[in-house]
Amino acid sequence: MPSRSLPVFGALCLTLTAAQNTVSLALTAQPTSGASGVISPSFAGFGIESSNLFSFTGGSDENQLTKNLLENLANYTGTPPHLRIGGNTQDYFIYDASQDDYAWKPNPDPVGQGNYATDSMIIGSKFFEVINRFPSNTPITFGLNLAYSESDYIKQITTMATQAVDQLTDVNLVSFEIGNEPDLYLQNGFRTGSWGGQVYTQEWLDRAGAIWEQVLQPNNLPSNFFEPGATASTIGTSFQVQDLDQFGITVKANGSSKPYIASWNQHDYYYYIGVSTYPLTAYDFMTLSTTNDQFAAWVSQIQQAQTTGYPYALREMGVVGPIGLTGITDVFGAALWSLNFFLYAATLNITSVQMHMTDNSNASAWQPIPYYGNQPFVRPNYYAFAAFDQTIGPTCAAQVGGYVIQDPPGSYGGRIAAYSVYQAGTLASIVLINSNPVNVSETNKPSLTWHLSLPQQFAGQELYLAYLTNDGADAKHGTTWNGISYEESGDGTPTRVNDATERVKIGNDGSASIVVRDSQAVIANIGSPVGQRKANPSACSQLAASSPDASPVTTPVGTNAPAPTSTSDSSSSSTSSSHSDSSAQSNTASRTGSSARASTTSGVAGLSTTMLTTIGAVVLTGIYLAGI
Ligand SMILES: *[C@@H]1O[C@H](CO)[C@@H](O)[C@H](O)[C@H]1NC(C)=O
Ligand SMILES: *[C@@H]1O[C@H](CO)[C@@H](O)[C@H](O)[C@H]1NC(C)=O
Ligand SMILES: *[C@@H]1O[C@H](CO)[C@@H](O)[C@H](O)[C@H]1NC(C)=O
Ligand SMILES: *[C@@H]1O[C@H](CO)[C@@H](O)[C@H](O)[C@H]1NC(C)=O
Ligand SMILES: *[C@@H]1O[C@H](CO)[C@@H](O)[C@H](O)[C@H]1NC(C)=O
Repeated sequence: MPSRSLPVFGALCLTLTAAQNTVSLALTAQPTSGASGVISPSFAGFGIESSNLFSFTGGSDENQLTKNLLENLANYTGTPPHLRIGGNTQDYFIYDASQDDYAWKPNPDPVGQGNYATDSMIIGSKFFEVINRFPSNTPITFGLNLAYSESDYIKQITTMATQAVDQLTDVNLVSFEIGNEPDLYLQNGFRTGSWGGQVYTQEWLDRAGAIWEQVLQPNNLPSNFFEPGATASTIGTSFQVQDLDQFGITVKANGSSKPYIASWNQHDYYYYIGVSTYPLTAYDFMTLSTTNDQFAAWVSQIQQAQTTGYPYALREMGVVGPIGLTGITDVFGAALWSLNFFLYAATLNITSVQMHMTDNSNASAWQPIPYYGNQPFVRPNYYAFAAFDQTIGPTCAAQVGGYVIQDPPGSYGGRIAAYSVYQAGTLASIVLINSNPVNVSETNKPSLTWHLSLPQQFAGQELYLAYLTNDGADAKHGTTWNGISYEESGDGTPTRVNDATERVKIGNDGSASIVVRDSQAVIANIGSPVGQRKANPSACSQLAASSPDASPVTTPVGTNAPAPTSTSDSSSSSTSSSHSDSSAQSNTASRTGSSARASTTSGVAGLSTTMLTTIGAVVLTGIYLAGI
């Protein structure tokens, strides 16, 4: 891993090993160079597999669990989470206006090529009707079918794009993804011959050009509405960001001053069953630094994206693909992993992360329909979204910086993480994650004490502590964030289950100590409880000018009242009939190249030399974000 691929750190930190189970952290008041840009309020988002949409939205009856869980998050940041509707099955879809069910239907006469025919599923207008049920102004990236290549492919893809533009009236359609994971098209029988980044670029431009001229331009939408390359993995392929750029994918659109590209888009899973070449244990999974190791190749893609000047979004991300792993992805440990991942991704200047969901996945943040003998329920993962979103808040002014933790006490190596969250340029919250695994059944749960050293300007103020916690890393139920349960109510609405306000006063010398139990995270908010910040409409409009998915909700969340959006106007929708959504294909998530994972652990010693950095007078050695 070259040192230039390492994330830069948002603040200084000097850690020293003192007594056992303590770690020291020095914080700065302002973001130092290397902190993230301003985080979009829709950053922590979800992907929904196209064929599983109705499971999440409901059919004749709206799915209240989904509605409430998304509304909670919209309430915390002022903008609903960015949703990508896509996946393998977007490449099987064609539109037929006469298909009037709340479900996709198998095509009785498919003509397309592929292991699954590229026209094997038919949807109608109900597909778009239910997308309008998501909270008003939800940013949507909509996946179109690139795989289909019969002679009428332009007609098919412009028809689908037209339906999306015309019918998605209550959400904020911000972009199209043309094709899912084209790097796998030879494997899944969608293409033969000399398929690669160059041919992909030609086919992509052909379709983007047609959609621009026939659909976007007539609707006064901009040409830069598309997100290449949607790859599973670029390792050893000609689909790298720099390859696609070189093949001309960033050219100006015909008759436009802008290109077709809005943002780069890639996919990744931490681990993929059948692709990853080693067994996954809870212990390795909770060794947060293994995330950085796995992500090394993607970090170099992000740097290539920065060179081109276009943003980089992770539109399909997951813990374990294709459909999770019980005991890993459906337990509290996964909540700590997810919170760390969002913050880590933010420090890399990834602009948005979509955690992929299917109805049958034990990695989905909630199970939307009865499955595996369980009624719908909320998984611990969901609480990471709530924690991240309440901490970022509705200010459109949050930035994240990460810390290097040098020489943590032995058993904590690679399993602790710390981040600063700045608001309008000033330190506002400190995130401390202790991911050392401890199970519910263990009676003596160890903890780690963080000795913080804050700048003098904060002396005498209180730190308000909000915990992301459960009885142990292996708990499937009972997680709380900031004293709130999203399970207790049964419908995803929040229930306060713990009223205690824990506070720690910052000493006159700027010091404060915070104890974090193993398998727990705390967010220490300076001066007030987390989650009380007010929206800043002018900061939000400024951010929305460059990031359409930051466009704030201006009408109450969850109503169908018109909300102005950057790309489409509003009306309403949603009533219904009946739902069924199952088949082998409906549960397919994307197959990705986590085989590309670099190494399981490399250890502090293995990487510390790449991390020698001097900022001001403080020498930082060691590692965390880079991957212990
Ligand atoms: C992220 O973006 C900010 C602001 O644009 C920049 O200062 C910082 O260096 C970037 N960080 C990385 C890791 O590229
Ligand atoms: C979101 O906030 C609105 C306005 O305060 C409130 O009416 C609604 O109940 C909240 N949504 C949820 C799911 O709590
Ligand atoms: C560009 O637009 C012109 C005028 O609409 C059209 O004749 C031409 O075929 C277009 N070129 C491409 C490459 O799409
Ligand atoms: C998902 O979890 C359930 C238990 O809740 C289990 O029965 C099922 O086998 C798991 N499925 C997978 C694919 O891990
Ligand atoms: C904790 O639980 C996990 C998952 O059930 C298991 O793999 C692990 O061995 C347990 N650890 C201890 C220390 O009991």
